[in-house]
Amino acid sequence: MKVILLMALTVDGMIARDSDHFPDWTGREDKRMFKDMTIKAGVLIMGSKTYDTIGRPLPGRKNVVMSRNKRRISQQKDLVFTDKPPRELLADLRQEGFEVAILAGGSQINTIFAREDLIDEIYLTYVPQIFGTGLTLFSDSIAMQLELMDFKHLGTGQIFARYRVIREAMA
Ligand SMILES: NC(=O)c1ccc[n+]([C@@H]2O[C@H](COP(=O)([O-])OP(=O)(O)OC[C@H]3O[C@@H](n4cnc5c(N)ncnc54)[C@H](OP(=O)(O)O)[C@@H]3O)[C@@H](O)[C@H]2O)c1
Repeated sequence: MKVILLMALTVDGMIARDSDHFPDWTGREDKRMFKDMTIKAGVLIMGSKTYDTIGRPLPGRKNVVMSRNKRRISQQKDLVFTDKPPRELLADLRQEGFEVAILAGGSQINTIFAREDLIDEIYLTYVPQIFGTGLTLFSDSIAMQLELMDFKHLGTGQIFARYRVIREAMA
């Protein structure tokens, strides 16, 4: 199945000031796009810290939250906590009929998927802000070659760019 990493970045490449930073700075257009894309895919995968900044499952789509904390158990239909290895998790989602999964951060979870070469496309909204310090897309050393597929101005000073991961170059 296709995995799309969907993230908003400041111009200096930050996804948050810290792990607890509520993502209220990305703008209305970005939020609308995030909602449309995740609902269309039907499933989003995120780390427990990202989930905690949102504080609730996003409605109308399956929320897969990665956590190693066995005490985190969901009673809700569209919310699951899992510590399955990413490849196994994606195989399960494929079995359930999903064809695209949106990988929605944060840095730690992005990194474990990147390490296993499971990210097919990366969609970024560049927000005209600077944080100076903070979390970046990945929390560790990663090497990826990307091809820009397209980009557009969102009309609010933000640029949305879509990249494809080039696997051949990594072989
Ligand atoms: N700008 C954006 O588009 C965007 C998007 C998403 C998130 N963010 C921001 O990113 C920040 C959070 O990022 P983060 O890197 O600190 O945390 P994160 O990646 O969201 O979550 C990290 C947590 O995932 C769990 N985890 C890590 N490795 C795991 C594994 N192998 N298997 C299962 N669970 C695993 C652990 O939770 P347990 O302790 O529960 O085991 C760990 O504490 C927040 O501020 C959020 O707002 C920004």
